[in-house]
Amino acid sequence: MEIKDPTSYADPAQGKIKHIDFRIGVDFSTRTLEIEARYQLQESVQGSLYLDSFKIDLEGARTDGRELDWEFDAKDDILGERLHLKGLEGASAFTLVFRTSPEARALQWLNPTQTAGGNYPFLYSQCQAIHARSVFPCQDTPSVRFTYSAEVEVPQGLTAVMAAEQVAVREGSGHGHARIFSFKMPQPIPSYLFALAAGNLVFWELGPRTGIYAEPKTIEAAAWEFAENETKIIEAEKLLGPYLWGRYDLLVLPPSFPYGGMENPRLTFLTPTAILGTRGHTSLITHELAHAWTGNLVTNATWQDFWLNEGWTTYAETRITEVLEGKEVTELHAAYNEKQLIANMERIGMDSPLTRLKLPADAKDADSLAPIVPYYKGCYFLQECEYAVGRERFDAFIQTYMSRFQFQSLTTEAFLDFLKTELPEVFEKVDVHTWIYEPGLPEEWHKPKSRLFDEVQQVLNDYQQDNKPTREQIQDWHRYQTLSFLRGLPKQIPVEDCRYFEDILELEKKNDVAFFSHFYATCVASGYKEILPRIEEFLKKIGRMLYILPVVRAMIETDWSREYVRSLFERVRDRHHQITVNAIEVLLKKAGL
Ligand code: BES
Ligand code: ZN
Repeated sequence: MEIKDPTSYADPAQGKIKHIDFRIGVDFSTRTLEIEARYQLQESVQGSLYLDSFKIDLEGARTDGRELDWEFDAKDDILGERLHLKGLEGASAFTLVFRTSPEARALQWLNPTQTAGGNYPFLYSQCQAIHARSVFPCQDTPSVRFTYSAEVEVPQGLTAVMAAEQVAVREGSGHGHARIFSFKMPQPIPSYLFALAAGNLVFWELGPRTGIYAEPKTIEAAAWEFAENETKIIEAEKLLGPYLWGRYDLLVLPPSFPYGGMENPRLTFLTPTAILGTRGHTSLITHELAHAWTGNLVTNATWQDFWLNEGWTTYAETRITEVLEGKEVTELHAAYNEKQLIANMERIGMDSPLTRLKLPADAKDADSLAPIVPYYKGCYFLQECEYAVGRERFDAFIQTYMSRFQFQSLTTEAFLDFLKTELPEVFEKVDVHTWIYEPGLPEEWHKPKSRLFDEVQQVLNDYQQDNKPTREQIQDWHRYQTLSFLRGLPKQIPVEDCRYFEDILELEKKNDVAFFSHFYATCVASGYKEILPRIEEFLKKIGRMLYILPVVRAMIETDWSREYVRSLFERVRDRHHQITVNAIEVLLKKAGL
């Protein structure tokens, strides 16, 4: 049965893309990619083929030496344009020649000043969820997988990387274009895992399967921070089965990257704000690495089934973190995450369909969906399944699940069918239907309990009774304790308390973006007006949406700051990826700003 994906114009019943050979020229002067792509299909196609595209400037389409008829014949602000290839008449391959738009949603083109080194421009892509179509016409749905090869030509001094295996580097011929990097991706991937970047990058080997690409200025700190990646793979394999992608490298991006990390196969794209100098935020790597199985190997069939990617990955992250950092730490994470989840659900409305695990079909704009529900609610649901049958049986189930569905995409319903066959008792003990299809959270479940979290709660209670914590009391706190403290503070506090907490928590010295996200939101709500220039600096530099959106939201919701937020945003707008710009626009427009 073909899967209907509401976020794609493609109709895989017409035929499916099997392989693409790309030739890509990276042109920083026009902020475009010049591309020739040869597509091979699973089988020959009669008549029409619909592809997704977004602002693609198509020059020509041909098959077997003849020109193909084509037309952009449907259009939508979010979905982009439907490219209708006509009269394929049994063709099983075709070639498209085109240019991407400077407004391609997946691509961010950075000036040298927006990089760590300051001397070279930088380009990177972010295709999840539905932005691959702005790089190349494709069946932009996670239910279609293809392999590819690519030759990427970049100017002198730059290195191109892809979420693929690098096979060769040679000198280019054209003027200005100096080096050609060749790649191949022999494992079939869904379009959202296509990824490329170019910049002044160097490589540092960490272990036999692991390494890091970063700008020269950042590489050493990154290599220290992520030195344990090889160990992480070994632990992940114990839980999830063999790692099937060959290498696992990291690419450290400039700070405008909209996410913490993106699980592009073989090459996780990473925010530089994860480099804390303490190895305190490497659970982010654990998360992206786990996606190599839960997401990249076994993939959600549509974005309505997003929890299959993120809920499973958060579950796996928790399990691996438990081995590497201990139970106390995972319990603390879980307790903090539960509070974040409930706050998030309350914001969107406890009975909103966006708080279901299976998301509604009319939510086309995957970027502005409730971001954390599929993660934590999905993880807590899987933990309930584990408790129902015991860890040993659940672990065996995980391995069977991974090997049974490897390199396939599945819907929530297909997953539940499989769960029912393999672990029928789950359905006796867990109210699966409520977890998956009802909004909010069920009445009864194993809510997180954490001693370390309770310790923080005690300090917060004392503060409510007018007893401020001392520096000594909090100086040995775990990072997630500090986070729990900052997020647990009353919405409004006296301005001098903002200053006091900043001082004793040593926020400036620790330079952790996650701390500042909570802290600035509190400062804004508390009327700490002098903080505004620092918030502007923050929003100029940092792109990670998880951390900047709460600050923007606080500014919108607070009377005194409301009038400043639109103009502030306009001043920082061109520093950000299109995805971030769109997300902030949605917030501002909703507030009538
Ligand atoms: N795959 C996501 C990032 C993503 C989600 C991109 C949806 C586009 C649409 C990635 O694995 C992720 O979840 N990143 C999180 C980090 C995680 C530790 C919660 C992030 O960026 O905050
Ligand atoms: Zn994820």
